[in-house]
Parts: sequence; structure tokens; C-alpha cells
Amino acid sequence: MPEESVTEAVTNAVSTTIAVIGTPAGPQDGARITLHGWLYNMRESGKLLFPIFRDGSGTIQGIVPKAAVTPEVWDAVRSLTQESSVIVTGKVRADKRAPGGYELDVENVDIQQLVPAESPFPISLKEHGVDFLMEHRHLWVRTPRQAAILRIRAEIMRAAQEHLDTQGFVRTDPPILTPAACEGTSTLFPVEYFGEEAYLTQSGQLYIEATALALGKVYSFGPTFRAEKSKTRRHLTEFWMIEPELAYAGLDDLMALGEEFVSHIVQSVLKNRAADLKVIGRDTAKLESIVPPFPRVSYDEAAKMLDEAFAKGLVENKFEYGNDFGSPDETYISSQFDRPVIVHRYPAAVKAFYMEPDPVDPKFALCMDMLAPEGYGEIIGGSQRVASYELLKSRIEAHNLPLDAFQWYLDLRRYGSVPHAGFGMGIERVVAWVCGLEHVRETIPFARTLNRIYP
Ligand code: 4AD
Ligand code: MG
Repeated sequence: MPEESVTEAVTNAVSTTIAVIGTPAGPQDGARITLHGWLYNMRESGKLLFPIFRDGSGTIQGIVPKAAVTPEVWDAVRSLTQESSVIVTGKVRADKRAPGGYELDVENVDIQQLVPAESPFPISLKEHGVDFLMEHRHLWVRTPRQAAILRIRAEIMRAAQEHLDTQGFVRTDPPILTPAACEGTSTLFPVEYFGEEAYLTQSGQLYIEATALALGKVYSFGPTFRAEKSKTRRHLTEFWMIEPELAYAGLDDLMALGEEFVSHIVQSVLKNRAADLKVIGRDTAKLESIVPPFPRVSYDEAAKMLDEAFAKGLVENKFEYGNDFGSPDETYISSQFDRPVIVHRYPAAVKAFYMEPDPVDPKFALCMDMLAPEGYGEIIGGSQRVASYELLKSRIEAHNLPLDAFQWYLDLRRYGSVPHAGFGMGIERVVAWVCGLEHVRETIPFARTLNRIYP
């Protein structure tokens, strides 16, 4: 940032950000302020210029009547091109018609870098194709809609941690470089580790089962990696997952935590990011209903819903009982409710080796998926974990997993094993749902997908 004293001496204005204008602690109507930002867009109408500035916190429209400023200031504003960096001084004016409620009577602009007119900012205000935008993601993130999504993402992550922190969970970070698979070997990214093969983690779960038995209630929060060759609007190869894990807990505790957790996150976004939801045009009525209790249906009940839907011609394909739900199945099930639905007790055969069987019928696992409404599908997957040493060992063998690599994990069942449970929530899936986005590629600053690793 340039030296504050220079601007200060010239203008005697208070340096601030757009987002706080009009808030109790921020500058009010009539205040003289300085903004450090960029030109987003400009309109000219006779002897009036209407530059729109952005500063990372929001956008504000400036007004420059030719008669009110010196010729130098007029020429400087008029010369501004899209995304030129500029320090602006002016007077805040309340205006009910303005999107943020305020406009800026510009008094001075101090141009930091003028984007040359002959090589303009590549992302103009007209429509661009998604491929072009993804190729210019490093610049695309500057546009108001993308910036709003990233602020909402940050709020989702903040609120998620806040919920767990205030419930007595301790954050314990698992390694990213791992010697073995967690969710199945086909989806691992191998890395060369001093002459041995290691993998990027798919989930911190196995490690936080260890820390849960050490600390009681824990969570991990970090990037996870999946090499599955999925080319859907829900799959990234690198995504962020937050995973709580609880000792002395079972499936019911997990479902209760999940609905409180997700409600807190959505309500926090509504409260703290209302302006950004407006920028992206989200229907907030659909988010206001996200409060506990969430509907709970068993796998069997969900399968029945799909059968009935097929009979009525509401879904294209007949659901094969016993399979896991595919994306179209999840889309249909979740679209039947106005809030997330928890589907529990899937057939053990289609789920991970570490899931505790249901004592009522061991063909089913004590597991749950939470499916977001409006067709967004799975946002959470979790389960109670196998507590018995013998059963876990036989499961590892049956899944052809390397027993050696799992000795430490089996230790958790050798020494003071207890019922314990946890889930993982994918941040990008939640951002997509909360923002009402078509595709997860816009939910993370730099998406990694099957066919993109640039920029
Ligand atoms: O259902 P998943 O695979 O569960 C696990 O990894 C467990 N070990 C978690 C646990 O019990 N601690 O993944 C959990 C969540 C999914 O519900 C989804 O939200 C997200 O992670 N997710 C993905 N998000 C984006 N792209 C992908 N390829 C994803 N795969 C999973
Ligand atoms: Mg899952």
C-alpha cells in the first residue's frame, strides 16, 4: 500500500473500505474518505462521469461532474481504463437508489497503474465462455460476482470452524502425504517419497480417529485429493474437507451434529454475507428454511422413493436396489425436501471398510449421507466406525488392503477401543449449494479438475 501520509496530508480524509461505509463503525453520509482500489467500470454522460470502483470489499459508484473538479482530475478519471489501480478520495453520499446505499462524490484520483487502452483487461463486461474465464481465473476472481462467492466461501469455512470450536472440538491436522489409501486405492494421487510411493490424502479420517481417542472431540480441516476421473459438476480433484470425529459417539450423535453444523453455517452466511448473496442473486428464502430438524430417511425408504418416482416417470432410470445412489438419484431424493435430508443405513457392501455394521441388521452400515436441497446432492458423508479389532482386521483383508500399513489403525482397536463416529463435509459442495451455482469450479479460488491445472 502506498504511503498513507501523502494521501492523508493532501486530503485529510479517512482511509476505509467500501464494505464498512454506513455501518456503525464506518464512515457515514458526508464523510470524506480514501479508497484503495481499481476501476471496475465507467459510464460517461455529457459532463458527468460515473466511475464504479471496487476495492476487494465491494463496489461503489463515483460521480464526477466536470464543473465540480479541476481539469486535471476530470482528465485523470476520464483516462481510467478497466482494472486500472487507483487511490480515490471523495465524499460519501447516501443514496437510496445506489446498490450499496451510498455513492461517492469524487474529489481526487491518484492513478497507481493505468491499464493501457491498447491491451485492455481481458475480461470485459460482456459475456465470456466458461473455458475462457477458467483460463483467466487469476483475473476472473476480480469480478464482483466471483469476489462475492469467495467471500461467502470464507464465511462458510469460518462458521464451520466456529461451530466446532465452540462445541469443544480440538482441531488436529492430519498429514497430507500418506502411505496408504483411505477411501479406496483407485482414486489416489501417487507421489514419489524418497524412493518410495506415497499418496496425497483422500481424507484425514483415519488419523483423526487416532486424535479423537486422544482428545475426545476433534476435527481436521484441509485440502484432500481424489484422482477419480469424474467429469461432473460436483467433482474436483483437490477440494477442502472439514471432518469432525467424536469418541464415545454413534450414528445418532453424528446426525444431530450434522444438522446443527450445517444450519449454523447457512444462518451465518445469511447474517454476515447478505450483501454478497444479493450480488449473486441468490434466493435467500430457500436458505432461511435451513434449520433443524432435518428429515431423516433410511436407505430403504430412499430406494422406495426412487421406485415410486420411476413408476410415475419422474426419473429416467430404474434404481437398482443394493447399489449406492448415483448423482441423478441424489438429485431426485434431495429435491423432495426444503432442507437437507439425511439418508442413513446404506448397504454395507457399497460403503467403506471402516463402517460399523448396524446391530439390527449387519447387512447395513451405521452411516449417513447428507443431501442438500434444490438437487445439490451429497454434501456430507460419515459413519460410526468399526470398534472391534477382529472385525476391522477381517474387513481390511477382505478389501485387499495392505495389513502392514494399517497396523497403527488397528492399534486404535487394541488399546481402549470405543464406539466413535465422524463425518466429512466438502466445502465446495456447500458453497455451490449456498450460492446456488451450477458447478463447483466457481467455488474455490483455483479449481483443479480432470482437465485443468492452469492457472
Ligand atoms: O463421502 P466422502 O468420500 O467421505 C470421506 O472421505 C470420509 N472419510 C469422511 C469422514 O467420514 N470423515 O467425502 C466427504 C465429502 C462428500 O460428502 C463431499 O461433500 C465431499 O467430501 N467430496 C467432494 N467434493 C468435491 N469433489 C470431490 N471429488 C469430492 N469427493 C467428496
Ligand atoms: Mg460419500
